[in-house]
Amino acid sequence: MATSILLTGASGLVGTRLTEMLIQKGYRVTHLGRSKRPGKVPSYVWDVAKGEFDQEALHGVDVIIHLAGAGVADKRWTPQRKKEILESRTKSSALLYERLRSSDNKVRAVVSASAIGYYGFGLDERIILTEESKPGTDYLSGVVVAWEREVDAIASLGIRIAKIRIGIVLSDKGGALKEMAGPIKMGIGSPLGSGKQILSWIHLDDLCGIFIKAVEEESMRGAYNAVSPYPVTNREMTSALAKILKRPLLLPPVPAFILRIVIGEMTDIVVNGSNVSSEKIQKAGYTFKYTSLESALKTLFKGV
Ligand SMILES: NC(=O)c1ccc[n+]([C@@H]2O[C@H](COP(=O)([O-])OP(=O)(O)OC[C@H]3O[C@@H](n4cnc5c(N)ncnc54)[C@H](OP(=O)(O)O)[C@@H]3O)[C@@H](O)[C@H]2O)c1
Repeated sequence: MATSILLTGASGLVGTRLTEMLIQKGYRVTHLGRSKRPGKVPSYVWDVAKGEFDQEALHGVDVIIHLAGAGVADKRWTPQRKKEILESRTKSSALLYERLRSSDNKVRAVVSASAIGYYGFGLDERIILTEESKPGTDYLSGVVVAWEREVDAIASLGIRIAKIRIGIVLSDKGGALKEMAGPIKMGIGSPLGSGKQILSWIHLDDLCGIFIKAVEEESMRGAYNAVSPYPVTNREMTSALAKILKRPLLLPPVPAFILRIVIGEMTDIVVNGSNVSSEKIQKAGYTFKYTSLESALKTLFKGV
């Protein structure tokens, strides 16, 4: 029988593509989300804030891929939004733990999303961050640390845990690339902050490939960075986008204080980079499909 995989947060950028790729590979896929969705993939409902969970969702499931979480860059970080960003991750992971603990099920692995925000911002970018590096001390690092802690608790049930620390995902369907390409398409693009900050990016298909590897590879346990082996600076990324979109790049870069007025505390994500290592996932046997930013952007802007 095909391995059965339950995805949480499957309606998002990663879940949509990952569902397609898993089905192509012959997996049986089901979804657990905030609402029941029509379509070929059977879906079940949970309400994380209320602690409600359709227990049927676990029936016959071998592996859970846990992606759920309120969008970090979707809205301004008000105190209410910050609480939602945190609790949608910690409480959803705790709810998974509770339902796995209290039910008869055959789940043998949980592969959870995490983020390179774990390491924090404003670090010396000459230092390459590995999975052994210390967590940061800012708000987002705190979220990721608390999220991973709840996911780790599931290991006490004898279930294998892999945490995928995701970098900046490049996709033509949304996310960071859409935000970066938007101003450039309008002819008002420029680097942000110093422009020298390092962006540890990954093509969406490589990220989904890493999730599938973590499902299949029984020896994968603990944290893995999901970033391409070829990080670039913000200026290199903006220039490459301008080139592929055949638009000019306005100079000088937009200073951080202007960004802070426009997008508030989230500016930290944009003006500070992090130089993250892909060595561990490569050693685990994952071979990247997109080996340079140019090759990734070419597939993402095919029609341009
Ligand atoms: N994309 C990136 O660049 C990136 C980088 C680092 C980390 N990550 C992490 O990877 C995961 C997947 O990323 P993504 O880009 O696919 O995110 P996304 O497009 O924002 O999708 C996340 C999904 O989580 C569910 N969700 C949203 N708000 C929720 C809430 N308050 N409570 C419970 N569930 C909620 C929704 O699925 P349903 O409607 O089906 O419930 C949503 O579609 C996220 O946890 C994200 O933080 C992504």
